[in-house]
Amino acid sequence: MQKIVIAIDGYSGCGKSSTAKAVAKILNYTYIDSGAMYRAATLHFLNNHVTLSNTEDVEKNLESLRISFHINQENGKQETFLNDENVEAEIRSMKVSEYVSEVSKIKEVRTALVAQQQHLGRNKGVVMDGRDISTVVFPNAELKVFMTADLNIRAKRRQKELMEKGDMVDLDKILQNLSERDKTDSNRKESPLLKAKDAIALDTSNLDFEEQVNQIVELAKVRIGTYYNEYGSNH
Ligand code: DC
Repeated sequence: MQKIVIAIDGYSGCGKSSTAKAVAKILNYTYIDSGAMYRAATLHFLNNHVTLSNTEDVEKNLESLRISFHINQENGKQETFLNDENVEAEIRSMKVSEYVSEVSKIKEVRTALVAQQQHLGRNKGVVMDGRDISTVVFPNAELKVFMTADLNIRAKRRQKELMEKGDMVDLDKILQNLSERDKTDSNRKESPLLKAKDAIALDTSNLDFEEQVNQIVELAKVRIGTYYNEYGSNH
């Protein structure tokens, strides 16, 4: 059966990753968390004390950066590996969150990660979430969704997520981090966060998780149907 590419972009903390993951599971697609790749690059740079303004240093460290995703056999969850080390928990820390927007502004970093993302999605059948998936990584994606949610709601959701992992973080600190990331991600020169013209806007402020997943799955089914009808190959 032919498969499509589903691109989900939006602000930090809208629930893009968990929604994309659930959509991929229902459709039996591969989920790719592009934010995790920027987070892993950030951790690599922090570990190696990279000076972000030094292009040579950045390029040298991009050469030694290997990111991969593996399924944890015990819980079935996808985990991020940096040079063969499981960094799933570490890349979600506040320290990485504080630096990630600065790292993801760097042109050389984006060029390297976009190439990897395009390679991962080359056979379609993927749900990828991020900031520039609809505009830069897969401008021809068959389904593009732009997720938004009220800032306070996003901060509370993020606090709950961190608390569940045993990380107690003050709501004000999360609010500040999210609003700063919104600003940096939207105003940066390289691939700013933008709603693609043909993306469908989905405000999740008043939706529960199941509702937001179902809305995207329904849109995907329509697109899959359209795609197959257009090419006459849905049998
Ligand atoms: O989705 P996330 O919050 O885990 O992403 C972390 C950061 O990575 C986010 O602040 C911006 C950056 N990012 C990006 O620039 N482009 C992407 N496609 C995905 C994430």
